Amino acid sequence: MHRNVDLIKVNLEKTYKDSYEIFIGEDIMDRVGLITKLKNHADRCVIITDSYVNPLYGEMVRERLGELAIPVDIIEISAGESSKSLNTVLDVARQLVRLNVSRKSFLVALGGGVVGDVTGFIASIYMRSIPYVQIPTTLLAQVDSSVGGKTGVDLPEGKNLVGTFYQPRAVYIDLSFLKTLSDRDFANGLAEIIKYGIIGDRSLFELLESESQGIKERNPSLMKSLVGRSCKIKAGIVEMDEKEFGLRRVLNFGHTLGHALEAASGYSLSHGEAIAIGMVGAAKISHRLNHLDGESYTRIVDLIKEYGLPTRIPTGSDTSQIPGFMATDKKVVAGQVHFVLIKKIGDPFVTPEVPSGVVEEVIEELG
Ligand SMILES: NC(=O)c1ccc[n+]([C@@H]2O[C@H](COP(=O)([O-])OP(=O)(O)OC[C@H]3O[C@@H](n4cnc5c(N)ncnc54)[C@H](O)[C@@H]3O)[C@@H](O)[C@H]2O)c1
Repeated sequence: MHRNVDLIKVNLEKTYKDSYEIFIGEDIMDRVGLITKLKNHADRCVIITDSYVNPLYGEMVRERLGELAIPVDIIEISAGESSKSLNTVLDVARQLVRLNVSRKSFLVALGGGVVGDVTGFIASIYMRSIPYVQIPTTLLAQVDSSVGGKTGVDLPEGKNLVGTFYQPRAVYIDLSFLKTLSDRDFANGLAEIIKYGIIGDRSLFELLESESQGIKERNPSLMKSLVGRSCKIKAGIVEMDEKEFGLRRVLNFGHTLGHALEAASGYSLSHGEAIAIGMVGAAKISHRLNHLDGESYTRIVDLIKEYGLPTRIPTGSDTSQIPGFMATDKKVVAGQVHFVLIKKIGDPFVTPEVPSGVVEEVIEELG
């Protein structure tokens, strides 16, 4: 029997609604309250921060948000990656309920990538989603994790395995937070900036080469330029491919091998250190497969070294586990490990066609 089928389209064209602005400057926290007030008519706000950042900046930001004339509370989570867990999510969500946080309230992520990822995730699921803004305080969070709306937590089985895509309402990047950042965390952020130079902006790469002294001294105007250019590249890629179906994957340059190295080292390598070695690996594979010339390869290695980041796998590491970790990466498609390679500085492409023999050789040479 023929059945009539009615078709109703649920039209969720939400690109415009999800658009937001990134504010970058020094000592701009005094503008946070005002701008936020213009954007949200909220009944209350909760700052989520970590146990290291809270004593440094928690009260200062709370005071600035006082301009909103609404209750502002602070919830502190322990500093470190171990807080990116479902336990933290449950614990914070229950505290939000006790603070009477409703769908008219908003959250503020004040901290590095851990705080940003956890807060964004909670905002996306608490009462079926409430707004949040990002105030990133590490260089990595300022140039990478606070922009793009990837949120989530880790499982014992691996990093970032539970999460959502949920964009913040605004991102406030205050470069003055960088003054208190450790050298290791500063280098972590630089690794991502070097990545942007390699995949998206040859002139950014050249700036990193020519101004390394000032950048290492955290010169404010140079940092403003680096952070702004990095955010522009990330925002441009996210605009075209919010959910990482295609283009956004180029942001994983150095990450396929880097994530595997990070895991194989039992996380003794920091993310930036692992990505630095991963970028050398990806450049080496690009050169080996005749996509990249030798001079560009050498420039990449020299730049990474210049910023005190490693270019070789630390001696004594168990490299036998690396291929196994690469095979379980989220970016594996139909059993194939996809690599981001480059044809030249500023010209990346994604390919599944890297013979496993070449990968193994490169891992051995990096050791
Ligand atoms: N969502 C994304 O798109 C995305 C992208 C990249 C990385 N990430 C995630 O980000 C996390 C790493 O972020 P991270 O490197 O910022 O780590 P983090 O949040 O752990 O911060 C590193 C350390 O710096 C401290 N800190 C923060 N701000 C400080 C400041 N101004 N001065 C002094 N110390 C400060 C923190 O307390 C912490 O101890 C990882 O979980 C990673 O998976 C997410």
